[in-house]
Amino acid sequence: MVIQLQDIRKVYTMGGNDVAVLKGINIEIDRGEYVAIMGPSGSGKSTLMNIIGCLDKPTSGTYRLNNQDVGRLERKALAQIRNKEIGFVFQQFNLMARSDALENVTLPALYAGMKPQERKERAGQLLSRVGLTAQINNRPNQLSGGQQQRVAIARALMNRPSILLADEPTGALDTRTGKEVMNLFEELNQEGLTLIVITHDQEVGDRAKRIIRLRDGLIETEAAVVHN
Ligand SMILES: Nc1ncnc2c1ncn2[C@@H]1O[C@H](COP(=O)(O)OP(=O)(O)O)[C@@H](O)[C@H]1O
Ligand SMILES: [Mg+2]
Repeated sequence: MVIQLQDIRKVYTMGGNDVAVLKGINIEIDRGEYVAIMGPSGSGKSTLMNIIGCLDKPTSGTYRLNNQDVGRLERKALAQIRNKEIGFVFQQFNLMARSDALENVTLPALYAGMKPQERKERAGQLLSRVGLTAQINNRPNQLSGGQQQRVAIARALMNRPSILLADEPTGALDTRTGKEVMNLFEELNQEGLTLIVITHDQEVGDRAKRIIRLRDGLIETEAAVVHN
């Protein structure tokens, strides 16, 4: 089991009032799964992603990542686990504007302490894997949106994470480019990568093998996707 969430709750305090955003979430995700988390705006998707991605801690409940209870770790220990185990892909790519594709992809390995030569080699291999061999020295403003997202995906894979977590990965892309990114996700999943995609787009969600639907901080439904 890669991820096990037990009765996860998140309460924000605003102006003296407690607002429950996650109200008792139970999720288990195995290695190699491809899961979409869907739900209307405000249902708690990003809050849940921040907890799964070790960017935030639950108010209560248990979160086991690779059988380790990470819910109570210190900030620093949590950051280390995050850098090692989680690859993030965001709607707006979040690339370093002044760095080229290769430098963007190597960055997570710099923090992880990988040697320069190995960093460069691995980043080059990943960029080739996502179809950007010819663009390794292009900066983000010299790349299309779809190419930038593929750089972001290569960067997310740099430290060989246990899971790749994508929040609205096609939200800033046109339909055709979005489909190309989803095709790449599907290939990576077939190669064994564990994928969690957060989306409000049904077509994107349907590419996954399982859809977990949130509403008002609770799981509304959970169902396998039937692919023809
Ligand atoms: N830091 C915060 N402080 C207070 N309320 C928050 C905070 N973050 C999110 N919320 C509230 O939690 C609810 C769920 O937000 P979010 O997880 O971003 O939902 P989604 O990603 O599904 O749109 C919303 O009502 C939002 O206003
Ligand atoms: Mg959100």
